[in-house]
Amino acid sequence: MRAVKLMGWQALFIVVLLSVTYHFTFTQGQDYDFEADKKKAAAPPPEENNCNGIFLSYVFISREKEFPHLKNATAQAWAFKSVATILNAGEKDLKAWKMYIGFQHKEILVSAGGAVVMDGDDLPAFVGNGTYLSGYPQADLKTSIETAGDLTQIQAEIQLEGTQFGLKPPAVPMPKTIKLVNDGFKCPAATRKGSSMYVCCVTDPKFKANITKTKYMPRQNGDLTIIYDVLQAFEGNYLAQVTMDNNHALGRLDHWNLTWEWMNGEFIYSMRGAYTHKRDYSECIYGPAGKYYKDMDFTPVMNCEKKPVIADLPPDRKDDEKIGKLPYCCKNGTLVPTTMDPSKARAIFQLQVFKTPPNMNRTAFFPPQKWKINGVLNPDYKCAPPIRVMPTQFPDTSGLDAFSTAVASWQVVCNITRPKEKASRCCVSFSAFYNDSVIPCNTCACGCKDTDTCNQNASPLLLPPEALLVPFINREEKAKAWAKMKHRSVPKVLPCGDNCGVSMNWHINSDYRKGWTARVTLFNWEDINFEDWFAAIEMKVAYPGYENIYSFNATKLPQVKNTIFFQGLEGLAYLMGEVNGTNPLTDPRVPGKQQSVISFRKKHTPGINIVKGDGFPSKVYFNGEECSLPKVFPTGAAHRSHVNLLPILFLTIITFVLMMDHLR
Ligand SMILES: *[C@@H]1O[C@H](CO)[C@@H](O)[C@H](O)[C@H]1NC(C)=O
Ligand SMILES: *[C@@H]1O[C@H](CO)[C@@H](O)[C@H](O)[C@H]1NC(C)=O
Ligand SMILES: *[C@@H]1O[C@H](CO)[C@@H](O)[C@H](O)[C@H]1NC(C)=O
Ligand SMILES: *[C@@H]1O[C@H](CO)[C@@H](O)[C@H](O)[C@H]1NC(C)=O
Ligand SMILES: *[C@@H]1O[C@H](CO)[C@@H](O)[C@H](O)[C@H]1NC(C)=O
Ligand SMILES: *[C@@H]1O[C@H](CO)[C@@H](O)[C@H](O)[C@H]1NC(C)=O
Ligand SMILES: *[C@@H]1O[C@H](CO)[C@@H](O)[C@H](O)[C@H]1NC(C)=O
Ligand SMILES: *[C@@H]1O[C@H](CO)[C@@H](O)[C@H](O)[C@H]1NC(C)=O
Ligand SMILES: *[C@@H]1O[C@H](CO)[C@@H](O)[C@H](O)[C@H]1NC(C)=O
Ligand SMILES: *[C@@H]1O[C@H](CO)[C@@H](O)[C@H](O)[C@H]1NC(C)=O
Repeated sequence: MRAVKLMGWQALFIVVLLSVTYHFTFTQGQDYDFEADKKKAAAPPPEENNCNGIFLSYVFISREKEFPHLKNATAQAWAFKSVATILNAGEKDLKAWKMYIGFQHKEILVSAGGAVVMDGDDLPAFVGNGTYLSGYPQADLKTSIETAGDLTQIQAEIQLEGTQFGLKPPAVPMPKTIKLVNDGFKCPAATRKGSSMYVCCVTDPKFKANITKTKYMPRQNGDLTIIYDVLQAFEGNYLAQVTMDNNHALGRLDHWNLTWEWMNGEFIYSMRGAYTHKRDYSECIYGPAGKYYKDMDFTPVMNCEKKPVIADLPPDRKDDEKIGKLPYCCKNGTLVPTTMDPSKARAIFQLQVFKTPPNMNRTAFFPPQKWKINGVLNPDYKCAPPIRVMPTQFPDTSGLDAFSTAVASWQVVCNITRPKEKASRCCVSFSAFYNDSVIPCNTCACGCKDTDTCNQNASPLLLPPEALLVPFINREEKAKAWAKMKHRSVPKVLPCGDNCGVSMNWHINSDYRKGWTARVTLFNWEDINFEDWFAAIEMKVAYPGYENIYSFNATKLPQVKNTIFFQGLEGLAYLMGEVNGTNPLTDPRVPGKQQSVISFRKKHTPGINIVKGDGFPSKVYFNGEECSLPKVFPTGAAHRSHVNLLPILFLTIITFVLMMDHLR
């Protein structure tokens, strides 16, 4: 293997400089100058000494060719090492620092000593589009004033190692930029010099922060916020409470699984309001816990995994003296938006955490890191690392006008990330009265696994309307016959299915002078039932004209632009699962259905053109998950149907009767 030390000694030299110069900056003013010798040895880089804010640097150290060795230089993989530093040279503490490194050479981060990737991704992580890092274990940087210039407290150093692609030596694969992303700071463009890069970020005078005299960060907003409170602390163990709040108007979780990673050998002795999927204490017995707790009976221990998977209790455990009896607990893992039901938007559970040496000290808490939460057919959440916040205050249970506080509190903020193409969990098909074909869900809208037998890039075949009711595997013949009838060509390798668990059909029913209507049908192709389901549609043009929806309970969402939210009416809040046909051997399986007609007026939306596509939603959500939409609209001759409300009413009644029939 040929090693290329790219200006390596220079880079190391700069790193050493960084450490050395700061030492003497703070000792200069003293009577004795212990560092005088070093001063003679190297002149300080002026940029760093002139920085009265937060000084960030990135120094590329070295790289080595990785296997396989390729002729094509752009495809060659290299193992690289670099160091990033962040130094508080200002006069205020920097809490929970966040640094952006704009990687640009398809980097894969393999290790990052002294930091964690902000979105909670496990390493190795693809960071080729840049990444946000925050400090672990050193999340806060003190000022040199209060620490007498102690570098270990005012500076964090991040050792980065990873793989990077392309760029023939002697070019140095540097990131595009580095910056501090904490609120209230602004950074000029970073300066690059050879294999190092630096920037001095200063406080933004325009930033109107609440003047917090407190020791900790204020709480942040996010789609899902989680608080980790230490309620009681003992020598060797503590009681923690986890509170999760769903704050997003379209956020949702069903059967949630929460995982995290213990960083210091902790284990969960017991839990209330939730449980771990695995009940296993063998890892404790063979690990450091077993060595330390020699006389402990481990049989009652709940979980010793480094990454436990935690789930909510079913509702029948709500009043269980031992594991229930907590407010907001035991909802079988369902969290809905507050607009739907505030009491179902929060979850709480408690756990007794045992620590292992050397962190037995009563005040040594290390909240778990790398939080992840997911549910069935729900949006994807990405969670930032826990940040120490002001201790939570709880109203006093004695009824007096007093409150109690947590011993320590951390906050984890999780935000919804939009699904990439072909990774939704629901999809939409379009149809209209002026076109007899249905435009089905996109090919592989929800991903494709085996692609030997079908084409995952072909557009889906148009369908006759009745084909919407049958599962994809039973549609093939119908689609082919339809194509033949319509004289459309059929490719040799047919397009793949959508593979979605839930789909919606949006059918334009009518278009008349004063208004128009659409029929919405939800299909459930999964075996599970959706209780308390909800859907939402964004209508870019038609929104102001929304009039009524007949068999769902709908509201206009004030928080989300142009969006109408709907849920099942009371008593009809179930979207049933797919069931066998009447004769399972010959009939296809039947999806669960919910249907309604939705009506719009044209008075507030002059110029609306239904046939051009204004009558179709621009975004559709089911249980918080954004659904995949077709790429084309049904086209046709723009003749208006002159219907009045009577047929709509009739249709609604039919819909309702059908639904009741289905529910029976
Ligand atoms: C070299 O590799 C890159 C990236 O993998 C690829 O896009 C490019 O086509 C390759 N060039 C040649 C000449 O093979
Ligand atoms: C980086 O961004 C580009 C364009 O936005 C996207 O196509 C690509 O998938 C991204 N790569 C990663 C690793 O996220
Ligand atoms: C400042 O704090 C008050 C109350 O604590 C809060 O209502 C307000 O939104 C905060 N302002 C900012 C800019 O964070
Ligand atoms: C999450 O979203 C909120 C706004 O909704 C934003 O202020 C916050 O910075 C986001 N957090 C992360 C970690 O992306
Ligand atoms: C709770 O969820 C489980 C699946 O996780 C399901 O089997 C069970 O029927 C649910 N219980 C209730 C009461 O909804
Ligand atoms: C306990 O740990 C805290 C924080 O790690 C430290 O400040 C304190 O001095 C320790 N106390 C003892 C008695 O070791
Ligand atoms: C939660 O975890 C259990 C056990 O690992 C698994 O069976 C289940 O499918 C998971 N649920 C979700 C929503 O991922
Ligand atoms: C519609 O939803 C709202 C809010 O969830 C609820 O208060 C109301 O009772 C529901 N109406 C019907 C008819 O179900
Ligand atoms: C549905 O049909 C399949 C055979 O096609 C059979 O194995 C299964 O037991 C049936 N399920 C129900 C609930 O009848
Ligand atoms: C129906 O719409 C599709 C998609 O836009 C189009 O290809 C087809 O020709 C239309 N059919 C008629 C009869 O206009």
